[in-house]
Amino acid sequence: MSQRTPNRRDFLKIGGAAVVAGAVAARSAGDASAEEQAAYSAQFAAPPMETVRIGYVGVGLQGGSHVTNLNRIPGCRITAVCDVRSERTDWAVAEVTKAGHPAPAVYNKGPRDFERLCDTEDLDLVYTATPWEWHVPVMLAAMKSGKHAATEVPAAMTLDDCWAMVESAEKFRKHCVMMENCNYDWPAMMAFNMTRQGLFGELLHAEGGYLHDLRGIKFENRNEGLWRRAWSQRLNGNVYPTHGLGPVANCLDINRGDRFDSLVSMSSPSRGLQDWARDHFPEGAPQRQEKFAMGDVNTSLIKTALGKTIMVQHCTNLPRPYSRINLIQGTKGLFSGYPHRLYIEGRGRADQWVDAATVRAEFEHPLWKEMAERSAGAGHGGMDFIEDYRLIKCLREGLPMDMTVYDAAALSAIVDTSVRSVAKNGQPMAIPDFTRGRWRTTPPLGIVHA
Ligand SMILES: NC(=O)c1ccc[n+]([C@@H]2O[C@H](COP(=O)([O-])OP(=O)(O)OC[C@H]3O[C@@H](n4cnc5c(N)ncnc54)[C@H](O)[C@@H]3O)[C@@H](O)[C@H]2O)c1
Repeated sequence: MSQRTPNRRDFLKIGGAAVVAGAVAARSAGDASAEEQAAYSAQFAAPPMETVRIGYVGVGLQGGSHVTNLNRIPGCRITAVCDVRSERTDWAVAEVTKAGHPAPAVYNKGPRDFERLCDTEDLDLVYTATPWEWHVPVMLAAMKSGKHAATEVPAAMTLDDCWAMVESAEKFRKHCVMMENCNYDWPAMMAFNMTRQGLFGELLHAEGGYLHDLRGIKFENRNEGLWRRAWSQRLNGNVYPTHGLGPVANCLDINRGDRFDSLVSMSSPSRGLQDWARDHFPEGAPQRQEKFAMGDVNTSLIKTALGKTIMVQHCTNLPRPYSRINLIQGTKGLFSGYPHRLYIEGRGRADQWVDAATVRAEFEHPLWKEMAERSAGAGHGGMDFIEDYRLIKCLREGLPMDMTVYDAAALSAIVDTSVRSVAKNGQPMAIPDFTRGRWRTTPPLGIVHA
């Protein structure tokens, strides 16, 4: 990372130049020179360590699942846990000791007790799965006190917070990783592997989304119901873009040869949550009075510096089957999710999709082959275990992370830019170049291993 931290205006100049000079040739993973690879590793790697000591902040549903995973991963130990609810810290202590490890220190004295954890504990990593508004405060406290930081998604909800993560990671020279588990799902990894083999030709377009009926969950009187619905009252845009964008951004070499340049975004009217409250709560219940800013279907279109297009959607307030879309399209074919299928010109029958499951043996990403058995039964079909495993492996071996702070910022920036665009009737919004021009020389993500 750079010694000098340019100010935020510098990025505008560099970003502007990037648009004008948009004809930078597309690069593939094999194009990075040895010097570029070495420079990249020097910027992003931290010294290796034998055992990763972890403080876990926010041990609810998803944090709890990570705690269970980490207990099973060699070379790491959860030595401190923090939650505002003592029943959850009690649960985490029991879970860690049940796995045969010493009891972790407990921090449950209110919403800023993670600061005491960061200041007091000797840790290598602080990992958070708190509600969205707490991700950045926890990570900033972690990096300031000399720890690497990792967070659940999205990493940040505002552009200012995206910059705060970047500036802090550069200043303290710490990893600041957004844990995008969907990058590790088997169809996403297989599509990435096939992209690297050139099977889809030059990629030109992608689509992703988070299309998940969360109406019941948003109105629950526990877990996400206690905080997620509030974001639907406050923001109109795509508040959860990273599951859909993460996998396709990797295929398109975002921040590693290309970058998100601008976005337009529009939202449909808001009906789903109001209707759900009317149908499920009695007359006079306060939930029936709630008003929601968030349009039920938000559609954003991102243009990259190289002129490629990415459609990203958010729909969590309407009845519908689950999908993240997961489509990448190139000059020779395409991959599409839900159901997972592909089409490659000259392979199979013209005009006919091929079921992705039928070619898994041929095109499965090596990491999936290596981890399938170990990850079986873990959260979200095993992908959560694989992402936690990679986090710990990279820290232990001093390797660059699969996702850098620039990826955390660029993917999360879609939240704020989509909200701004929707508010201006779909006006284009510039997406900051958090890399400050280094997207041109950063080598593409390679095929990683267990
Ligand atoms: N990657 C995925 O597939 C996935 C799935 C579910 C949730 N998530 C993400 O995980 C995060 C948590 O979601 P969840 O479903 O576990 O929600 P949850 O409400 O079950 O868990 C959040 C936990 O954080 C605790 N908490 C709240 N404020 C805190 C604070 N200031 N300090 C310490 N603890 C605090 C709560 O008591 C709770 O235990 C969110 O960012 C969400 O987007 C990701």
